[in-house]
Amino acid sequence: MPNRGRKQRKNKKAPGENVKILISGPRIQRRIQALARQIRRDFPDEPLHLVSVLKGGVFFLTDLARSISGEVSFDFIAVSSYGHDTHSSGQVRLTRDLDSSIEGKTVIVVEDILDTGMTLQYLLKLFQQRKPKHLRVAVLLDKPDRRVAPVRADYVGFSIPNEFVVGYGLDYSERYRNLPYVGVLSLDSKLAKKAAEK
Ligand code: IMP
Ligand code: MG
Repeated sequence: MPNRGRKQRKNKKAPGENVKILISGPRIQRRIQALARQIRRDFPDEPLHLVSVLKGGVFFLTDLARSISGEVSFDFIAVSSYGHDTHSSGQVRLTRDLDSSIEGKTVIVVEDILDTGMTLQYLLKLFQQRKPKHLRVAVLLDKPDRRVAPVRADYVGFSIPNEFVVGYGLDYSERYRNLPYVGVLSLDSKLAKKAAEK
């Protein structure tokens, strides 16, 4: 095994930014195995159609899909809700639709994080209109304190405090998605002030 731990800590950050590990890569992987078993137990004989939200949900989707036994297919949708900072605009816009119909399918929406709930509220309404057989939600992370829309996930990897996190798909201005762990991003106060003035 290569020494991944040392490399992780050395991961290059932008000036004024720091990332502190919150959930390690191995812990994420163990939790995903458990979620995969739970999902299969709930739908023992059904083909499952995973629908992931680009781009943040991709690593969760690929790890989850490989851990669920039996028939699994997947598709992607893209929405934009966040601008280029750590605050949501609250606006959700569809930027890429699914390739195939979900009618009659057992659909699991796979998202990186449930924050205000605006994104999932929008998606669940859209998907419900397309008449799936079942519609469930799996999120790797849940920030319950931030909820605005009344959305609940059926499968939650980790409940986390109200902090801005990056890694394992989650980004800050498109960076840090490739970290194998989830970490809390902190900004140097001078730099943060500068960004807020823009
Ligand atoms: P919601 O619509 O507020 O629930 O936000 C969902 C989306 O906002 C997620 O899919 C992420 O793309 C983004 N998001 C929310 N919280 C964070 C965070 O802590 N770090 C990075 N992205 C986040
Ligand atoms: Mg996202």
